[in-house]
Amino acid sequence: MKRLFALVIMLSLILGSIVQVYGAETIKIGLVTPLTGSVASFGQSVDKAVRMAVDEINSKGGLLGMKIELIVEDNQSKAEESANIVRKFIEQDKVVAILGPVISSNTLAAAPIAQQSKVPLLSPTSTNPKVTQIGDYIFRACFIDDFQGMVMARFAMTGLGKRPSSAAILFEKTSDYSIGLAKYFKEEFTRLGGKIVAEESFSSGDQDFSAQLTKIKGRKPDVLYVPSYYDTAGLIIKQARELGMNIPILGGDGFDSPQLLELAGKENLKNCYFSGHFFSGSSVPQVKTFVTNHKKRYNTVPDMLGALGYDAVYMLADAIKRAGKADRDAIRNALAATKNLKLVTGIISLDENRNPIKSAVIISFDANGNQVYKTTVNPPKK
Ligand code: PHE
Repeated sequence: MKRLFALVIMLSLILGSIVQVYGAETIKIGLVTPLTGSVASFGQSVDKAVRMAVDEINSKGGLLGMKIELIVEDNQSKAEESANIVRKFIEQDKVVAILGPVISSNTLAAAPIAQQSKVPLLSPTSTNPKVTQIGDYIFRACFIDDFQGMVMARFAMTGLGKRPSSAAILFEKTSDYSIGLAKYFKEEFTRLGGKIVAEESFSSGDQDFSAQLTKIKGRKPDVLYVPSYYDTAGLIIKQARELGMNIPILGGDGFDSPQLLELAGKENLKNCYFSGHFFSGSSVPQVKTFVTNHKKRYNTVPDMLGALGYDAVYMLADAIKRAGKADRDAIRNALAATKNLKLVTGIISLDENRNPIKSAVIISFDANGNQVYKTTVNPPKK
C-alpha cells in the first residue's frame, strides 16, 4: 500500500513537470520585441499584430483544444537584454516556442540560447542570413538580405529612369543588418557594371552625418544607398538634402516606420525608395482583411513589421496544428516542413535552411510622405 502510494506520488510529480514544460491547459509562447529604445517603432508594430493574431486564434478555440498564452517582454532594442529574455522564457516560463527578436543583431545574440536548449525560435523580421545559420531550431518569416540587397541594386540600375553608373553607400558599422545589406548591394551593383565611389560608415547612436555626407558628395555618386533603420536613416536623408544632395536615396526594410517621415520631413522623402515585405494598400483580399481588422482594433494601418509579426503567429500556429502536440521538438519538425502557407506577406515555403522564399516590394513616397507602391520583385527561380 505504501509502495503504491509512493508510486502514485512519483507519477504525479513526473506528470506535473511534463505539464509544466508542455503546458496542458495553455500553449505558452514568448514574444521578445523592442517596445522601447532605438527601434521601438518596429517592436511596437510587431507586438500589436502578434497580439491581434493570438486573439483571433484563441477566439476560434485556440490550438489543439488549448488557448495560446502569450508572454511579451521588452528587450529595449538591446542584444544582451534579448538573450536574457530568451533564457527567462525557457527556464522560468517554460514556453514551447519563441517569437522574435525583431532586428537581426538582437536575434543573433538571443538565438544561440534557444538553439542550445532546443526551443524553436521564429523571428518574424530578422533578415540577416546568419540568423538561421545558428542552428536547426531557428526560423524566420521574412526573406533574407542577400535577396533584399540584390533587389535594390537591380532597382537602382533599372528602376530610376536613367541608368546610374555610380553609387555611394553609407552604413552602420555596428549593425549586422546594415553591414550585410551594404555588402549584398555592392556585390550586385558592381556585378551589373556600376561603380561604388564611396563607402562611409557610422556607429549606432550617431546623429550627425555631415562629415560622411560631405565626403560622399565630393565623389558625385548617382545614387546613395543607406541600409540603416529609420532612426538614423531619417536624419541622414534630411542632412543629405540640406547639403544639396538631391540624388535618389535607397534603403532596405529598415526605412519602414512612420518615424522616418517625422525625422526626414516629407519634402525630403521625394526621390527615396526602399525594399520591403508588404504594402498595406494591396488589393489582395487577405491583406485587405488584415488591414481592416488592424485599423478597427488599433486605429492605425499596419506596417511591414506588423504584417510579418502577424504572419509569424500563423506560421507557428500552422506548425503546432500539424505537430499535433505542443512539444518543442515536434513543433520544430513541423515548422521546418512549412509549405505553401498563404499569408499576408505572401506564400511561405521554407527552404532547407529554414528561410522563406518570398517576393519583395519596392516603395517610394508621395508629396505628403505617404508610402507609394512601385513594384514587386520575385525571388530568382532555383
Ligand atoms: N530586417 C530588419 C533586421 O533584420 C528588421 C526589419 C524588418 C525592419 C522589417 C523593418 C521591417 O534587422
